[in-house]
Amino acid sequence: MATTLAKAADSAAATGGQAARIEHVSKSFATPAGSQLVLDDITLDVAPGEFVTLLGASGCGKSTLLNLVAGLDAPSAGSIATDGRPALMFQEHALFPWLTAGKNIELALKMRGVPKQDRRGRAEELLGLVRLRGAYGKRVHELSGGMRQRVALARALGQDARLLLMDEPFAALDAITRDVLHDELTRIWAETNLSILFVTHNVREAVKLAQRVVLLSSRPGRVAHEWTVDIPQPRRIEDADVAELSVEITEQLRGEIRRHGKD
Ligand SMILES: Nc1ncnc2c1ncn2[C@@H]1O[C@H](COP(=O)(O)OP(=O)(O)OP(=O)(O)O)[C@@H](O)[C@H]1O
Ligand SMILES: [Mg+2]
Repeated sequence: MATTLAKAADSAAATGGQAARIEHVSKSFATPAGSQLVLDDITLDVAPGEFVTLLGASGCGKSTLLNLVAGLDAPSAGSIATDGRPALMFQEHALFPWLTAGKNIELALKMRGVPKQDRRGRAEELLGLVRLRGAYGKRVHELSGGMRQRVALARALGQDARLLLMDEPFAALDAITRDVLHDELTRIWAETNLSILFVTHNVREAVKLAQRVVLLSSRPGRVAHEWTVDIPQPRRIEDADVAELSVEITEQLRGEIRRHGKD
């Protein structure tokens, strides 16, 4: 118990009470043409319970940054601390095709040490949370793309993490399904105390979901601009104030892409 408390205290000190603390992070990759600087001096916090979207042009380093926060790779400089181990969700659902939806979730529960007798009930609860109660026994190929992402979300939620990292999780879905999943995610976020760092290159998606939108520049990726989104939820993608802010952000994003094009 003492160790657990000490660990919690360490982690609170490292994150400064934030869900994620990214401080002066840079990342370079070795390429045949030499070292390529992809992220340059990124400093960004995600507060407990905050929903932040990270927006930027293709190739600007969004996934690279998310992977660093996830601990899948190490920064070349700077430091990253998170409140516990984050849960991850990607564009590809990454469900195991030989398992049912329910068993995919139970596997995540097992890996986090949930006792066997509690797993089924918890998996059903999580499927209920993403409104897929009937899908427990369904295999992945029997589910639509939207349903698969719901199961992937339920599985991520099953990790009981305080921070959820999402890398374009709805990008492969049609617009209507994506819109429905935005509403589900917003509802689940409001019902839980989750902090979310959500990567997208879709400006309207960023504005619809987030309390704060962070725009990354390209080559190297730097924090170019931030917006606090005060529009009350639930937001509609076609709402005038969502559209207005999206236009402003798109202008900035275009500027970043133009600047990059001149390099
Ligand atoms: N492991 C790696 N080795 C070398 N270069 C890499 C590696 N991972 C990423 N890169 C390079 O870093 C840059 C940023 O890639 P990243 O995938 O982070 O961009 P992104 O913003 O997520 O793009 P997209 O919106 O297309 O998903 C790219 O130029 C990419 O080629
Ligand atoms: Mg990416």
